[in-house]
Amino acid sequence: MNRLVVVSNRVPLPSAGQQAGGLAVALDGLMEKRGGLWFGWSGIVSPEAATEPKVESAGAVDYATIDLTPEEHTRYYNNFSNGMLWPLLHTMPEMMKFDRRDAKVYRAVNDRFAMQLATLLQPGDLIWVHDFHLIPLAAALRARGVTNPIGFFLHIPFASPDVLGAAPEVASLVRDLLAADLIGFQTDNDMGNFAAAAVSFAGATRTSPTTLMYAGRRVRLGVFPVEIEAHSFARMAAEMEQSEVCQRLKTSLLGKKLILGVDRLDPTKGLMQRLWAYRRLLEKHDDIRRNVTLLQIAATSRKEVVSYKELRDDLDHEAGGLNADLGEPDWVPLRLLSRPTVRQAVAGYMRLSRVGLVTPLRDGMNLVAKEYVAAQNPADPGVLVLSRFAGAARQLDAALLVNPHDTDAMADALDQALRMGLAERQSRWRSLWEAIEHRSPVVWGRSFVASLLRATAATARMPRQPGVPALAIDRPAAAAPVRLTREPAELTATGEKIRLN
Ligand code: ADP
Ligand code: F6P
Repeated sequence: MNRLVVVSNRVPLPSAGQQAGGLAVALDGLMEKRGGLWFGWSGIVSPEAATEPKVESAGAVDYATIDLTPEEHTRYYNNFSNGMLWPLLHTMPEMMKFDRRDAKVYRAVNDRFAMQLATLLQPGDLIWVHDFHLIPLAAALRARGVTNPIGFFLHIPFASPDVLGAAPEVASLVRDLLAADLIGFQTDNDMGNFAAAAVSFAGATRTSPTTLMYAGRRVRLGVFPVEIEAHSFARMAAEMEQSEVCQRLKTSLLGKKLILGVDRLDPTKGLMQRLWAYRRLLEKHDDIRRNVTLLQIAATSRKEVVSYKELRDDLDHEAGGLNADLGEPDWVPLRLLSRPTVRQAVAGYMRLSRVGLVTPLRDGMNLVAKEYVAAQNPADPGVLVLSRFAGAARQLDAALLVNPHDTDAMADALDQALRMGLAERQSRWRSLWEAIEHRSPVVWGRSFVASLLRATAATARMPRQPGVPALAIDRPAAAAPVRLTREPAELTATGEKIRLN
């Protein structure tokens, strides 16, 4: 089996403890089972850029990480990735802040990742790059002569070309991404937007719904919705229900129904809109007041980015106002927490709650929605209220789907969820469970890797264009360091021998 080399900005180092975020949750399970090399940022900012990655191992996974300098952390991570690409790709261009100096450092960090990763690569390695921090990485690796198969997966949405046009760097980023052999997305909408951008910004030709031709090469596209390990999450939630931490929460509710929100504190998660809808619900329904509590866990995230700081202030202000206006001496309607909560406790809280409120303005997938379904007690399940703008809504259409911009509709959905009878709750839950029960991050990862192998095998069979380098795919793994050449090679992929000239 070829070694899998995963590359991501955020690496969940075993030594660093738990971190909130969909990427780590999705990939952790896969890497644990399959093993391989995981390369990326150490999570540490240090004054000097180290010349060599730090390496640690756990089980079958080797982690190789590099520190960022303060300037890289500010310009590559905070400003360009989170302050520019994140809002742009989530179709919130008015929030995006573009600065050429940030773009330059973003590229420089990708080059440094490529340089340091190249020294660790072996023939036969399959390289799988993740997310918007590393869009230029495939091109940077190719420029260093790396010929291994490269796949890229985008965990967040991809905006339409109309929206992307607002960003000065976008054409070159799209061109760079086309250096990968396979580009994966969460939904067919994201894939369609990327294909349209590749055609309009890079001059690629779309030869089929999942194929682009660019610079004489075939680039495959695919849809790979990220999944959770539903059965183990369900077991964890059931076990946690009786734990002290969950029983304390249950006791504190004094029989009131619990509405639960669990998110990173992020402008895309629709947290303000959620509080407005909750306020509207309480204002409209006297009989619901005093009989319900909203627990919103909004773990602090990216706290050096201005829009995140502003959101924190706005949320604190709104939460204080809501409790002051609607609370009573013996009833606090809203509990807002910003500290991260351990995953086990989150699972238990989900099982205790009557409503799961997952209402991002836009989201690539949203694993919290899937976790909420998995955590429920089939005999007495809670109701998922889900934004139609989350990727997960395409699979979880038995949830109460809402438009997070429509405060009244969200308040009505909350009302409906709180009053829903057992039979409807069970029947909706069964449909939701069926949508997630047979899937897992491991199946997701295998399906991506299989498509990557197929994509590179197909590329290898294509007639060569003059001046276009051959791809070396799936050579038998060797312990010797990689020879970075573009020479012809005899290859095996998906069981067949391919001669590249
Ligand atoms: P994102 O990747 O944007 O953070 P997802 O919903 O896809 O969003 O994934 C978030 C993951 O992190 C989930 O596994 C969720 O349980 C976890 N998580 C999110 N917020 C919190 C929180 N406040 N405390 C603990 N875990 C959290
Ligand atoms: O899922 C999107 C994502 O940006 C992941 O790449 C990341 O792990 C997660 O959100 C949390 O963000 P960050 O790594 O910036 O804390």
